[in-house]
Amino acid sequence: MSRVYNFSAGPAALPEAVLRRAQEELPEWQGSGMSVMEMSHRGKDFMSIAEQAEADFRELLSIGDDYAVLFLQGGATGQFATVPMNLAEPGQTADYVVTGSWGKKAVAEAGKYLAVNVAADAGDSKYTSVPDVGSWRTSDGAAYLHYTPNETIGGVEFHSIPEVAAPLVADMSSTILSRPLDVSRFGVIYAGAQKNIGPAGITIVIVRRDLLGRARPETPMVMDYTAMAAAGSMLNTPPTYTWYVAGLVFQWLKDQGGLAAIGDINRRKKDKLYDFIDGSGFYANPVNPSDRSWMNVPFTLADPELDGRFLAEAAEAGLATLKGHRSVGGMRASIYNAMPEAGVDALVAFMADFEKRCG
Ligand SMILES: Cc1ncc(COP(=O)(O)O)c(C=O)c1O
Repeated sequence: MSRVYNFSAGPAALPEAVLRRAQEELPEWQGSGMSVMEMSHRGKDFMSIAEQAEADFRELLSIGDDYAVLFLQGGATGQFATVPMNLAEPGQTADYVVTGSWGKKAVAEAGKYLAVNVAADAGDSKYTSVPDVGSWRTSDGAAYLHYTPNETIGGVEFHSIPEVAAPLVADMSSTILSRPLDVSRFGVIYAGAQKNIGPAGITIVIVRRDLLGRARPETPMVMDYTAMAAAGSMLNTPPTYTWYVAGLVFQWLKDQGGLAAIGDINRRKKDKLYDFIDGSGFYANPVNPSDRSWMNVPFTLADPELDGRFLAEAAEAGLATLKGHRSVGGMRASIYNAMPEAGVDALVAFMADFEKRCG
C-alpha cells in the first residue's frame, strides 16, 4: 500500500500516525474488549476518551474556563443557523463580513432568523482580499459580528483579529489549530472537523459562557448551546468514533510540539509554495499577498487548456486532489496540518518540472 500526498480541501488528509494508531486500536480499545465504535457513549471508557480529547483541545488552544467547548453535529453549515438562534432575538440585527463563498452562505442562512447587516463584502475584488476594518459599516447594538477567518475556496485569510464592539463569531473550519490563537478575543468559534480536527461528523464550538442562556425557546435542543454545555454535548448520542479520532489528532499535535511548532511548519510550507508561484511566469495566485491563506492555496496555469494534463500527471506522481473548486476553476492545494513539508516539496518540484516541459 502506498499513500499519496492528498491536497483535498476536506475531508482532508489525516496524519498517518493517527491512522495507524486508530488501526491498531480498531478491534479492541485498550483492554476494553470492544471497539470504540461499539461503546456506550455514557460508559466510563468512552467518557474518558471524550474528556481527554476536550482537555487536549483546551490545552492546545489555551482555552480558559470562561469558555464551553461543545462537540456537536450538523457541520459548520448547521452553525450558520445555530449561531443566530443562540445569540439573537428574531428582530435583532447581526453584522456579517463576507470574504468568500462560505461567508455568503452564512449570510443566506442567518437571514432566515434575524436581520442581517452585511458590514463589508469583498465581492468588488472578486473575493481576493480582506476589506479594511476601517471601511466596515457595522450596526449599533448588533447581536454579534460574524466572519470567516479563512475562506477555503478562494484562499483568502485574515491575518489579524478584527477589533469590533459586538461579540466576534468566527467560522474557523479551515484554519483552526493551524497556529496559536487568542481565543479570548472571540464570543464564538466554530469549526467542522474534516480539515484540521479529524474525520467529518463532528463540529466543535467554543462559546464564551456569558453568551449562554440566550437561545430562542424554539431552538432544537441539539442546537442549543446552553443545553448541550450542561449535558457535556451528550443530550443525544454523539459521533463517538469521530470524537475519538479527533482526540488522537490532538495528541498527535501535542507530540509535534503544539500549535507554535505546527505553526512554524505551516508558515514554511505556505512560504515555499507562494514563493515558487510568485517566482514563476507560468503559475499565478490571484489573492492580495497580505491576505493569502496558509491552508488553501489556489493557483492557475498560464494556459487553462493544460489543466487536465497537469492534474493527470500530478496524480500519476502521487499528488492527489489538486483540482480547484468548481466555482473558481484552476488548482487548489490544501496544505493543512497533516500535509508534511515533504508533500509541499514534492508538489513544488512537480510544478517546476511541468512548467519546464509545458510552459
Ligand atoms: C470555511 C467553511 N465553512 C463552512 C463549511 C461547511 O462545512 P460543513 O460541510 O461541515 O457543513 C466549510 C466546508 O468546507 C468551510 O470550509
